[in-house]
Amino acid sequence: MSTDIINAPVRAMLVLGTRPEAIKLAPVARAMAASPLFEPIVVTTGQHREMLQQMLELLGVEVRVELDVMRDRQDLAKLTARLVDGLGEVVHDVRPDLVIVQGDTTTAMTGALAAFYEHLPVAHVEAGLRTGVLDNPFPEELNRRLIGRMARWHFAPTPRAAGHLTAEGVPESQVFTTGNTVVDNLLWVLAEGKGTSVFRSGLRRVLLTLHRRENQGDRMRAMGRAVWRLADRGDVEIVLPLHKSPAVREALLPELSGHPNIRVVEPLGYLDFSATLAACDLVLTDSGGIQEEAPSLGKPALVLRTTTERPEAVEAGAARLVGTEPEAILDAAVRLLDDAETYRAMATAGNPFGDGHATERIVAQLAEDFGADAQAPGVADPLLATRHDGPGSYSTA
Ligand code: UD1
Ligand code: UDP
Repeated sequence: MSTDIINAPVRAMLVLGTRPEAIKLAPVARAMAASPLFEPIVVTTGQHREMLQQMLELLGVEVRVELDVMRDRQDLAKLTARLVDGLGEVVHDVRPDLVIVQGDTTTAMTGALAAFYEHLPVAHVEAGLRTGVLDNPFPEELNRRLIGRMARWHFAPTPRAAGHLTAEGVPESQVFTTGNTVVDNLLWVLAEGKGTSVFRSGLRRVLLTLHRRENQGDRMRAMGRAVWRLADRGDVEIVLPLHKSPAVREALLPELSGHPNIRVVEPLGYLDFSATLAACDLVLTDSGGIQEEAPSLGKPALVLRTTTERPEAVEAGAARLVGTEPEAILDAAVRLLDDAETYRAMATAGNPFGDGHATERIVAQLAEDFGADAQAPGVADPLLATRHDGPGSYSTA
């Protein structure tokens, strides 16, 4: 009897279209490309254009299919329609063994739907995040719940996320607590030390990012005015890598241009962004990924939103959900800058999002379920392998 367990590599289609999906799926794509057990088939939807392009080299894997769905000021209905149409055709033609999506974007939701329509199994990376409010963040909370109904594998970053899924009726045998792949990437990038911080002064360093749809318009303008007042202290340097979204630019540029202590820059490549994050004192953000990265680097994060699907950081004491009211934002930032004890407590709270070994767990699980030997060599990201000496001890309790 042959001892070969599989004859051909598992054909895994990874669907991604936005900046954070590229960042968080990159280690999975790299690990699969280095393994004889998998053939990664990367499909980019182009939901983002420039901001996706600048992340693609992270993948270390050739993009096999490239859609071009982005339109200026795309509305969700038409974006969704273009994605279902384009991805439906790709999935039908390529017929992979499984489709992998990440997170909660419209690309991820439609990637899962396209696979479902072709009766193909879906693996969801970063599964189980919930705010409990269907339209906040909008439309991501709905997107991730829909993916949760379609997926066969749910790779939850934390025990809490896994708990959300089992509470919704997903069988425990389909939920795997792995940590978040964002930590894998970040630790590798910083160990490489190739990025450059864009901070220039010796002042206190504040990194700001804003982009959420539910914050756009008047609310985002008011948040911009609060940041201007923070800059007026004179002892801070505020850097804003500005999202390409025209709605974000319209809200923030009039409020934040022209202050000597505020520097607005184009979106940064991941290496430079990570170095900038590592160099900052304080983060103000409505980003999902940055809420995970900041605690990983001991940077206090003020979350400028009314809800978060990442309460683990808040509970650990590494982040504070400060809402979107200008006074509340200003008060929280001033307190952190002026009160050394409050600052120290947040900066030392630790990272609840993983140990840097999420990718190995995800790829090993898929290998096992496709009949390959889970212990087989080659399921780790080769770039990360230089940093790791074996599977970690991240708790799945
Ligand atoms: C999307 C995701 C959001 C994620 C964010 C990451 C959805 C519905 N939203 O939000 O979950 O947090 O990406 O950044 O999937 N644009 C450019 N160039 C680019 C990228 C975007 O011009 O490189 C413009 C597009 O014209 C678009 C607008 O920005 O109209 C917004 O992009 P879109 O992907 O619709 O939503 P995001 O707010 O980026
Ligand atoms: N990021 C980056 N350059 C930037 C801003 C952010 O590389 O100028 C990275 C950041 O490190 C994080 C991810 O982009 O991993 C977050 O993306 P974004 O805030 O757009 O989306 P979200 O995480 O909210 O979905």
